[in-house]
Amino acid sequence: MHTTHREKPEANADGKPAPGDSHAEAALYDFMVVSNRLPVDRCAPEDSGCEDGWRRSPGGLVTALAPMMTKTDGAWVGWHGAPDETIEPFSHGGMDLVPVQLSNDDVELFYEGFSNATLWPLYHDVIAPPEFHRTWWDSYRKVNRRFADAVVRHADQGATVWVQDYQLQLVPKMLREARPDLKIGFFNHIPFPPPEIFAQLPWRKAIIDGLLGADLVGFQRSSDAGNFMRSARRFLGASVKQQQVHVKGPDGRTTHIARAQAFPISIDVKQISELARNPEIIERAHQIRRDLGNPKTILLGVDRLDYTKGIRHRLKAYEELLADGKVTVEDAALIQVASPSRERVEQYRLLREEVEGTVGHINGTYDTMQNTAVRYLHHSYPIDEMVALYLAADVMLVTALRDGMNLVAKEYVTARTNNDGALVLSEFAGAADQLKQALLMNPHDIDGLKDTIMKAVDMQPAEASRRMRSMRKQILDHDVDLWSADFLAALKEKVVRDDS
Ligand code: G6P
Repeated sequence: MHTTHREKPEANADGKPAPGDSHAEAALYDFMVVSNRLPVDRCAPEDSGCEDGWRRSPGGLVTALAPMMTKTDGAWVGWHGAPDETIEPFSHGGMDLVPVQLSNDDVELFYEGFSNATLWPLYHDVIAPPEFHRTWWDSYRKVNRRFADAVVRHADQGATVWVQDYQLQLVPKMLREARPDLKIGFFNHIPFPPPEIFAQLPWRKAIIDGLLGADLVGFQRSSDAGNFMRSARRFLGASVKQQQVHVKGPDGRTTHIARAQAFPISIDVKQISELARNPEIIERAHQIRRDLGNPKTILLGVDRLDYTKGIRHRLKAYEELLADGKVTVEDAALIQVASPSRERVEQYRLLREEVEGTVGHINGTYDTMQNTAVRYLHHSYPIDEMVALYLAADVMLVTALRDGMNLVAKEYVTARTNNDGALVLSEFAGAADQLKQALLMNPHDIDGLKDTIMKAVDMQPAEASRRMRSMRKQILDHDVDLWSADFLAALKEKVVRDDS
């Protein structure tokens, strides 16, 4: 429950009063989520999905956290997506939102630079080369401080604060220094790299130190938690025992114990299941098939347009299958939804050019007057249209080269209420740990990928049903409410201190 208090905790994260902070008015919360993005993003009326100046933010993080936040009385601290616009705290969709402002420079240096051109590629197996710039790092520290300040201003005594993702790795320590009364959790939605790769980061110590400010650091896979603990040992000399790091203060004494553990994230199963049973959405799925000329097989890819998603590998495999005559434009249609993402970052611009060039080449070669090989849609769609697409698709292609989890795979499986359809899933997506009955493959192996796609296209209904049932059971038993409940329960647990 949130309250408006007259008095508020004295310090902010750098000890100075925050500009524009009206102390007497600050609403205080006993539960706060902090992420770079708020669940809604500023938009212009002509943008698709824009209502009253807001639309749903992109990406899996918001998909996973929004259901929990609509059910709690907490507040969500984050950026609203519009550079240089100051917005006061407000409520939207049943959630209290506390906007943090980013200037144009912050967007360039902190968001596009350090977050998405240093950390993102570094944490995703250096698929693209990470860039290291000191000005970006300075901005990352400064903006992390601003997020920490916003929390300090709004967190009630003893509140629980749950910090999210790679953009805010310094926030846990900043919070602990300013407000030792808080319970601090952190969850990394993307992979955590092995120490051999993490070693490249000039600021590796500060990042580990920042994360260790948390009581509990959550990861998608146990391998990510293991990588983090090995880095803590290697770069900070931390003593790590049974997933616990004894964090030492400047005097060498243990200040607290930080635990690292895997909590695989999931989706709002109820929402997707209900949509998948809605007659209007089922009819929309039929219409999609009719619009495509009733092909025997519809294949689907749904991704942010990101180089980690393996879209190029997928298109290459599909093009070769067309060239080999294994699939034809009459029998099969590939729909590729690529939602716009990080469009001012160089690697994303290059990717878009390449993907669009490849789609143009494939369609130019194989299209007929009636049929198109690849329907390429550079849009984001509301969830009901996504579920209609999942229902229409006989084969779902998730070919990520590296992915923290991949919630699209879990949404597809959940939407297949008839237990039909086939999921081709990269072993490099976190979801592969849970969806063992998917057709798992290595997307770098183009022949293997082609064979797996054909196995999915030709799969007999009995086998498809056996696999889908088992995957559906896994997801239905582990929805996103369980994920957040497990994390928050672990955060509350008393840690037995072992100073030996
Ligand atoms: C991934 C990240 C999120 C991010 C989302 C969208 O899911 O884990 O932290 O918000 O992508 O990316 P964007 O850069 O648009 O926030």
